[in-house]
Amino acid sequence: MKIIFYEQNTDTDAWLRGFARELPEADVRVWQPGDTAPADYAVVWRAPRDLFANRPDLKAVFNLGAGVDAILDVERKEPGTLPPSAMLVRLEDTGMAQQMVEYATYAVLRYMRRFDEYEALQREGRWEKRTQHARKDFIVGVLGLGVLGGEVARALVALGVPVRGYSRTAKELEGVAVYAGPDQFDAFLDGAHMLINLLPHTPDTEGILNARAFGKLARGAYLVNVARGAHLVDADLIGALDSGQIAGAMLDVFHTEPLPKEHAFWRHPRVSVTPHISAETLREESIVQIAAKIKALARGETISGIVDFKRGY
Ligand code: NAP
Ligand code: GLV
Repeated sequence: MKIIFYEQNTDTDAWLRGFARELPEADVRVWQPGDTAPADYAVVWRAPRDLFANRPDLKAVFNLGAGVDAILDVERKEPGTLPPSAMLVRLEDTGMAQQMVEYATYAVLRYMRRFDEYEALQREGRWEKRTQHARKDFIVGVLGLGVLGGEVARALVALGVPVRGYSRTAKELEGVAVYAGPDQFDAFLDGAHMLINLLPHTPDTEGILNARAFGKLARGAYLVNVARGAHLVDADLIGALDSGQIAGAMLDVFHTEPLPKEHAFWRHPRVSVTPHISAETLREESIVQIAAKIKALARGETISGIVDFKRGY
């Protein structure tokens, strides 16, 4: 079996060693421009279009991330970029859920206990106590209840805050008040103290974090965006921060990455910026999952994590 690998700025040799260990019978090569030799599988992150050209035999494309928005965006603009023979498969958890739980838990504790304000007070040398938010009233809304959002919602229930969840289809999660579909979106937002975004970026979710949504939250609510920059209308967040409707935001993802030096988020006193690290792709976990799926496909079995192009995730 032949596998092509493409990811820039990574330890490529370590990936190749891992695949050689898990799939000793496979011939795994790094794709270079001009390489049109046959391949059964592609393992890629942000691959150029040319990688997919003239590959009628490609059985699956494994995306080295949970989000497939970049690759689907190319396919939407230029249909047929991905070979029709190939299914698109996303990473499922591979250690990202725990990282998201850590980021979300940190954000909840940071804002509920007002550590953001104490950091600002320290910079001014001010000894001043602030009333903390009461845990039982600090409603946290998790947008997206999939592999990552589901784990985050469960962890926040264990932390003892009231948790709401928003998904496309209805589901049951112990301790979580679940709202599903656009008809229940406003009820999901109503009076919430924090929003944590873990939706996929699709045409339906683009710009969902906007002035209208912020206006439904409790005054002085907090925003955590760990999904995609395209979910957020940047100017609406700046407006909501400046009016006090939003009291603080932790942002890990942006319309343009790296975040341009001149962007207002860098300098806004109530915005914390992290460089798309809330849940990193872990090499070993990803190799093991992808290799197991390739083996399952070779045995003629079905696998999970196949992207539904129409749904967009
Ligand atoms: P997932 O398992 O596919 O879950 C997606 C969730 O969003 C599902 O609950 C789905 O609802 C819901 N959803 C989708 N479209 C919706 C809509 N229009 N309205 C309401 N709910 C909708 O995805 P995941 O693995 O949890 O990952 C989520 C996203 O996190 C990725 O797409 C990626 O963009 C982002 N991410 C970011 C980082 C980072 O480092 N910043 C790392 C990994 C992932 P249903 O359950 O009803 O289908
Ligand atoms: C990272 O952003 C991912 O989608 O896995």
